[in-house]
Formats: sequence, structure tokens, C-alpha cells
Amino acid sequence: MKIGIIGGGIIGLSIGWQLLRRGAEVTLFEKGTVGQEASRAAAGMLAPYAEVGFEEIELMKLGQESLRLYPRFLEELAEDVENVPEFDRCGTMLVGVDRDDTEHLQRLYNFREELSLTVEMITGTEAREREPLLSPKIVSAVWLPDDAQIDNRALVRCLRKAFESRGGLLLEKNAVQQIDLAGGTLRGLSTASSNFKFDKVILAAGCWSGKIAGIPDKIKPPIRPVKGQIITLQQTDDCDLKGIVRSPRFYLVPKEDGTIRLGATSEEKGFDQTPTAGGQKELLEEAWEAVPSIYDLPLVETIAGLRPASRDHAPIIGQTEMEGLYYATGHYRHGILLTPITVYSIADEILDGTVAEVLEPFRPGRF
Ligand code: FAD
Ligand code: GLY
Repeated sequence: MKIGIIGGGIIGLSIGWQLLRRGAEVTLFEKGTVGQEASRAAAGMLAPYAEVGFEEIELMKLGQESLRLYPRFLEELAEDVENVPEFDRCGTMLVGVDRDDTEHLQRLYNFREELSLTVEMITGTEAREREPLLSPKIVSAVWLPDDAQIDNRALVRCLRKAFESRGGLLLEKNAVQQIDLAGGTLRGLSTASSNFKFDKVILAAGCWSGKIAGIPDKIKPPIRPVKGQIITLQQTDDCDLKGIVRSPRFYLVPKEDGTIRLGATSEEKGFDQTPTAGGQKELLEEAWEAVPSIYDLPLVETIAGLRPASRDHAPIIGQTEMEGLYYATGHYRHGILLTPITVYSIADEILDGTVAEVLEPFRPGRF
């Protein structure tokens, strides 16, 4: 079976690699260089328990299932390449600095307890016993031990190698311009210079997924970019965080390579990817208030990535109304977390015709 994939972020690369493992012939088209967009900007949190919103129980279940699949995903990757990054079950500490924060944390705690998740509401002193770098200003915290994280940049590097080692054809600097149809039937896709025939096409172009021509208006994926500025700091011996620390205004994520990601803004600025003084100031101030020792850390990088957000902020996964055209997009804030479930689901649907129940709320036909 010949499959074309549009987009070389973590989603397109992983799906391509998995389909190659199961015997398909895969060509992946990337408009620039693989893994340089949202999948690079991400902080790498695998945190369904910290990130679940009050209205998002189905999404949390999807994240929970994807987290469960992560070890299998990484074991399979280690069969194909070396230096696969560690799956770090570091937990998330949600922290509060005043009474308003504590009330908010109490609501977050109650909601998680009702869902029977493993969660603790603790005092500032108890939080500092577990994460000694926290400021004396922290008065309360919610501890979520089951959240995890991974070095997403290292993961994308491994996926690229694995894709190529399994014989995938990677066409970088090859933007797909349109999906090709004949009489309403999918034929393949076109770049500026060539047409390619495929049995199946998977659209995994992140926040650009709505821009491919040829898709009938009624099934076009409703995707927009949501800008996130994020800072990388270099950890020192005086400032080695144990796990994820976050509040509604910032997060700090210590990585395996000795850096810390400090994120992230959430801005409706179209396709603009410029880091701004205001964005950096807010992140640095909020994080410094919770963890004062970040003050002296060397600043390594500031970038902005574009989260692919669908109209309902949930991913769009599976075959569209047009036979042979699949979507794997709209992963918004959770694409690193949701990679394994997306990959196994798309591969199962294409090769075996099965769709897991947990996927039903996230099918393309819902819009
Ligand atoms: P991308 O990584 O954006 O990849 C899409 C690719 O498609 C790009 O390489 C692009 O060049 C290519 N493309 C686009 N158009 C075309 C075309 N016409 N032809 C060919 N190629 C094309 N998620 C988590 O789970 N945990 C986190 O901690 C986390 N933190 C985040 C922090 C920030 C600041 C941001 C911005 C996002 C974060 N996310 C996080 C979300 C996560 O990064 C995304 O959901 C995920 O990376 C989406 O992956 P993707 O492959 O769909 O998109
Ligand atoms: N999931 C973290 C972010 O999107 O910033």
C-alpha cells in the first residue's frame, strides 16, 4: 500500500515510521526541515492530569490512554534506533502564591478526586519538602505524581532516523500544494513541481492543515495557530528542579539534557512567530516568583511555536468523508502526549479497518 504523509512534525513522522514497521510504503512531504515547528517548541510534558480542563474528560481519557502506550512506543523505537530519550514519570506540582490561587487549586483538586485520579492537596511547606527550590511565597500546591515528561527534541531526532532506517522516503523542502481528486476520488497529491499517486494520504501539517488546496470546503479541517512563546534556561547545580512545576501562568520543565523549558504564552496572533519582550517578561517574572533561583540561570534560547488548534480544541484523528484521506491534526497543547494513541489508531484504521472507542469523540466528521 502506498501512503503519502503531509507534514514532518512529531505526528507525521511517528505515523510514517509506524506504517513502515507494518509493511506500508511511505513518502513524507515536509515544507521545511522535519521537526522544526510546534514539535520543537513544545515543553515535552506528558501531563494529562495537570492539563485536563473541567469540560475535557474525553480528552483526558485519550491522554491517559496515550500515556499508558508511551513505554510500548519507546520500546518499539529502541528496536530501530539508539539513544531513545527517557520516559520520566516526574509528576507535576501545581503551585499557588495567594488565597485566590489556593481556591483555584482546591477546585482543581476536587475535580481530580471526583475522577478518582491520584492527587494530593498539600501545604507550601509540604511542597517545599518535595521540591526544595520552591519559594517561601508558595502557600499551597496540588501534587499529581502520575504525570510524566520526555525530551521531545531528542524524540523527534530518533523518529527521523527510525523513519529513514525503515526505508521511508523523506522529501524535505517539498511543500504539498494540493490533494488531487478525480471524479471525487482521491488520487494523490501535488507539490509545485510534481504529482504523486497514493492509495492513502494523511494530513498531519500541524497548524497549516487548513491551507492545503483541493479538499472540499465541507470537510476542510478547522485549524488555527495559537502562538506559544517558550524560553530555554541552562540548569546549574544550584537550580536542579526535580519535576514539573506549574501554575496557570507558567510552567517549568527540567529536561534530561540539563536545560529547563519555561513556558508558555498563549496568543491569537495568526502565523506570527516572533518572540516579544512582553511575553518573555511575563514568563520570567511568574516563574521567578515561584522558583527564585532561576534568576541566575543562563538563558539559552527564546522561541515561539504555533499550536495547531481545532475549533473545539481537540484533535482530529481518522478517515474523513473522502475515502483514503485521513486527518491527524489539531493536537493543540497535547501533541507530544497524544503521539502514541494517534499513531497506533491511524495505523490500525488504515491497515486493519478498526477504530478504538476512545477515538470516537475525535473523528473528523464531527464538525
Ligand atoms: P508540527 O510540529 O507543527 O508539524 C507540522 C509540520 O508540517 C511542520 O514541520 C510543517 O513545516 C509541516 N507542513 C505544514 N504545511 C505543510 C505542507 N503544505 N507541506 C509539507 N509540510 C507541511 N504538547 C504536549 O503534549 N506537551 C507539551 O508540553 C507541549 N508544550 C508545548 C509548548 C509550546 C510553546 C507549544 C507551541 C506547543 C506545545 N505542545 C505540547 C503542543 C505540541 O507541540 C503540538 O501539539 C505538536 O507538536 C503538534 O505536532 P504536529 O506534528 O501536528 O505539528
Ligand atoms: N502543553 C503546554 C503548552 O501548550 O504550552
